[in-house]
Amino acid sequence: MDKLVSLAKRRGYIFQSSEIYGGTGSVWDYGPLGVELKKNIKDRWWNAMVRMRDDIKGLDAAILMHPRVWEASGHVAGFTDPLVDCKQCKKRFRADDPRIKGTPGTPDVVCPACGNRGTLSAARLFNLMFKTFMGPVEDTASVVYLRPETAQGIYVNFLNVQQSTRQKVPFGIAQIGKAFRNEITPGNFIFRTREFEQMEMQFFVKPGTDMEWFEYWKGERMKWHHSLGLADDRLMFHQHTKEELAHYARAAFDVQFDFGGTLGFQEIEGVHNRGDFDLTQHQTFSSKKLEYFDQPNNERYLPYVIETSVGCDRTTLAVLVNGYREETVPGEDEGRVVLGIHPSLAPIKAAIFPLTKKDGQPEMARRIEKELRAKFPVDYDETGSIGKRYRRQDEVGTPFAVTIDGDSTNDGTVTVRDRDTLKQDRIAADRLAGFLAEKLGV
Ligand code: GAP
Repeated sequence: MDKLVSLAKRRGYIFQSSEIYGGTGSVWDYGPLGVELKKNIKDRWWNAMVRMRDDIKGLDAAILMHPRVWEASGHVAGFTDPLVDCKQCKKRFRADDPRIKGTPGTPDVVCPACGNRGTLSAARLFNLMFKTFMGPVEDTASVVYLRPETAQGIYVNFLNVQQSTRQKVPFGIAQIGKAFRNEITPGNFIFRTREFEQMEMQFFVKPGTDMEWFEYWKGERMKWHHSLGLADDRLMFHQHTKEELAHYARAAFDVQFDFGGTLGFQEIEGVHNRGDFDLTQHQTFSSKKLEYFDQPNNERYLPYVIETSVGCDRTTLAVLVNGYREETVPGEDEGRVVLGIHPSLAPIKAAIFPLTKKDGQPEMARRIEKELRAKFPVDYDETGSIGKRYRRQDEVGTPFAVTIDGDSTNDGTVTVRDRDTLKQDRIAADRLAGFLAEKLGV
C-alpha cells in the first residue's frame, strides 16, 4: 500500500487533500490521472446499470435533503458508532477497537495510544453524520446533514421517477454521488474516507419476488466486478450474519475484494434486500402515499427494494491494488513497475513517442497524436531514452505505446508495443486508430 500511495502521488493519481496545510484527515483529491480512472469506472457502472437497460432510470438528487429524511431513514437515531475518548492524550477510538482490553471507563483499562491506565471514558454513541446549518441562522430549526448515503435521494423520488417515465414494477433507479461520514477510524488510503462517492441502484419489486431479484442482482454485480479485470481469486461474497445486518436489511451480501496486507478481504459493494422499510418510513414521516398502483391487477402496494451499493473510491483502490506489479523484463537489468489495469479503465490509452527529435519524426508523431486524441486520451512524450519513456507509461497503466522511428517517415509504418506482453507490432500509421480502437474495445 505504501508503494501505491507514493506512486499515486508522484504520477498524479491521488493527492492528500489540502496537503500544503498539513492535510485534512482522511480526505483525498484525485489528480489528472486519478480523475480519469475514477470517471472510467463511473462510466462503466452507468453504462451497465442505466444505458444498457430499459428497466433502470438515472437520477442526480441533491446532497442536502430535508432533515426529516434522516429521521425517517433511521440515521438520526441509529447511524452511530460507539466511541471512547482518552482524557489524557485526547485520542478517540471505536469502543470495539481490538487494542482496547477490558471495558472502557473502568480503572484498569489502558489507552492504546498513550499507554495511560484508567484514562479511557466509557463508550458513548457518536453519530457519523456531518451536521451543518441551512440559511443565516445557526439554530436547531436550520440543521441539515450532508447525506451519508445516496439511497435516500432515490426513495424520496420513487414516485417522481416512476410516474414521469411510466415504469412498471419491477424497475430500478440509479445514481452516482458524494456521501459523507464522520468516520471515527478512517484510513488505509482511499479505503475508508470521510468524503467518498457511491454508485447506488435501488430496484423496486413486488413483495414475494424479492429474494429472486436479490439473487439476480448478486450475480449481476459480481459479473461487473469481474468485467473490471479484478482477479477471480481476489473476489468473494460475504453473507451478513444476523448481528451484522443493518437496521433496514432483511438479507445482505457484500462483494469483498482481497486488498492484501493487513486489510485482506474487505467489502467493496453491498447488495441488500431492504424490504419495504424505506418507503414505509418515508410514507409515515411525510404523510404522503408512496404506493405503486399495479393497473392490470388493480392493486396498490409498497414495493420491496433490492439495493446494490458500491463505493467508487474503494473500487478505484481495488483496481489499483489488483493492477500493481513489479517485475523483471527479459534481457534488461532494470525491472519495471506496471499498473496492469484493464485497458477500458486506463486514463491514457496510448502514448506516442518519436524515437528522435529530428528527421520529421516529431511532426509525424504530432499528426498521429492529433488523430488519436479525437478518439481517446493519449500522451505525447519525446524526452529521455525510449526505455525510460516505456517505464513512465507502464507505471501509470498506459496499455499501448506507439513509436515513430526512421522507417516510419519513409514507409508510413509505426510500432505498437503492448504493455503486458511487451509484443511489438509493426503496422501502417493510417490503420493505427482502427487497430487501437479494436484492442481497446472503444
Ligand atoms: N446505501 C447503503 C450503504 O450506504 P454501505 O455498506 O454503508 O451501504 C456502501 O456503503 C458502499 O459504500 C461500501 O461497500 C463502500 O464501498 C462504500 N463506503 C462506505 N463507507 C465508506 C467510506 N467511509 N469510505 C469509502 N467508501 C465507503
